Amino acid sequence: MELRPKPSFYRGILIKFVYLQTFNFALRKKILVVFGTRPEAIKMAPVYKQFILYPEIFETRLCVTAQHRQMLDQVLSFFGLNPDYDLDLMKQGQNLHELTANVIIGLKAIYEDFNPDYVLVHGDTTTSFAASLAAFYCGVKVAHVEAGLRTYNKMAPFPEELNRQLTGRIADIHFAPTESAKANLLSEGINAKTIEVTGNTVIDALFMALEQLKTYEDEEIKKLQKFVGSNKKVLLVTGHRRENFGEGFIEICNSLLQIANEFPDLDIIYPVHLNPNVQQPVFELLQGQSNIRLIHPLSYPAFVWLMSRAYIILTDSGGIQEEGPSLRKPVLVMRDLTERPEAVEAGTVKLVGTNKLIIVDEIRKLLKDSDYYAAMIAISNPYGTGNAAEQIVAKFK
Ligand code: UD1
Ligand code: UDP
Repeated sequence: MELRPKPSFYRGILIKFVYLQTFNFALRKKILVVFGTRPEAIKMAPVYKQFILYPEIFETRLCVTAQHRQMLDQVLSFFGLNPDYDLDLMKQGQNLHELTANVIIGLKAIYEDFNPDYVLVHGDTTTSFAASLAAFYCGVKVAHVEAGLRTYNKMAPFPEELNRQLTGRIADIHFAPTESAKANLLSEGINAKTIEVTGNTVIDALFMALEQLKTYEDEEIKKLQKFVGSNKKVLLVTGHRRENFGEGFIEICNSLLQIANEFPDLDIIYPVHLNPNVQQPVFELLQGQSNIRLIHPLSYPAFVWLMSRAYIILTDSGGIQEEGPSLRKPVLVMRDLTERPEAVEAGTVKLVGTNKLIIVDEIRKLLKDSDYYAAMIAISNPYGTGNAAEQIVAKFK
C-alpha cells in the first residue's frame, strides 16, 4: 500500500507557512530614509537600494523633503527612486528658519503615519538636522550616515558644521566614514558601541555611476562630449557655500577671468548651482567669456563623466572633495577649513580659500608643472571601497 500524507497534512504546512510569513512580516523593522538635497540623495541612494533588497527583514520607505527640487529630481531619476512621501518644500531663495520649521512639521506627520523604528539621515544639511530633531520629539531612533566630520568652527561650513554636530547629539547610531571621523565622535563622549566605521557611501554611488556609464546612453553626456572635444584641458568648477556668498564669489569669478585670459586654450566648465546667491554674481561676471562655459547643473552621471574628463577640479563642495581623489583628479577647494582632512593629508586635495592670488597661482602650477601635477594625484581615495551601504544595512539585520 502506498503511504501518502492526507490532504490535511499539506493544508497544515501551508497554514504554518502563511502564518510564519505573516508573523515575520509583522516583525519586520520599519526603516524610513529621509533626505532633501542633491548630495544627500546621491549618497543615500545606495543605502536605500540596499535596504529594499531585504523586504523580508525591512519595511523600507523613502521620504524626500525636497529642500532641493530640480537638483534632487535629477538624482531620483538616475537611481530610479520613487519616494513614498514628498514634502515638496523648496521655495525660491528659501530661508533657513522657514525651511527648518517646515521640515520639522512635515516630518512629524510622516513619523506618526509610519511609526518607523529607525529614521536614517545623512550628513549636515538642514533637512538632516531638522528630520533628526523631529524624530527625537516623536521618540523615533535616528541613525546618522556620514557622522563625525568636523571643522569645530561653527561658521565654516555655515550652517552645516552645526547641523552635523547637532544631528550627532541626537543620533542613536553613528556611521562614520573614516577612523578620524570616529575619533571626533569618541572625543565628544559618544559611546564607542554606537559607532561603525563604514567608508563613505559616496564611493558606492560613484562606482554605480561609473558602471552604468559603460552602457548608458544619455543626451546630456553626448552634448558634453561634443563641446568638450578630446584635446583641450578642462578646468571643472562648482561652488555654492553660504560663507562664500558676496565677496567670496566675486573673488572666485575674478580668479576665473584671470585664468581664462592667461590660458586661452583651457576649457573652463562651470555647472552653476541654482541658488540665486550663486547664479546672480556668476552670470553677471562671467557670461560672454569665450573659454568659460556656464551651464545648468548636470545630472549625476553627466557630472561624473565630466569629472573623469577634467584635468583640474576647483570647488567648494563637500562631496566632490571625496569623488575627485577617487578619480585621481587634483581638487582645489575654495574654503579655509575642511571637515574632510583625509584627502588633504594625502595631498590630492588642497585648500585654496577664495583668495584670487592663491587660486590663480595653484592652477598655474598644476597647468605648467607636470611633476607638481603628478605628485598631487599620486595617492588615491581614502574614503572607502564601495561597500559602505552594505555595512550600514548589516547593522540593522
Ligand atoms: C544646500 C545645503 C548644503 C548642501 C547643498 C548642496 C543647507 C543649509 N544647505 O545648500 O549643505 O551642500 O544644498 O547643493 O542644508 N534651488 C533651486 N532648485 C534646486 C535647488 C536649489 O532653485 O533644485 C535654489 C532655490 O532658490 C533655493 C536655493 O537654491 O531656495 C537654496 O537652496 P538651499 O537648499 O536652501 O541651499 P543650498 O545652497 O542649495
Ligand atoms: N553634482 C552633480 N551635478 C552637478 C554638480 C555636482 O550631480 O552639476 C554632484 C557631485 O558629483 C557630488 C554632489 O553633486 O556628488 C555634490 O553636491 P554639492 O556640491 O551641491 O553639495 P555638497 O557635497 O557640497 O554638500
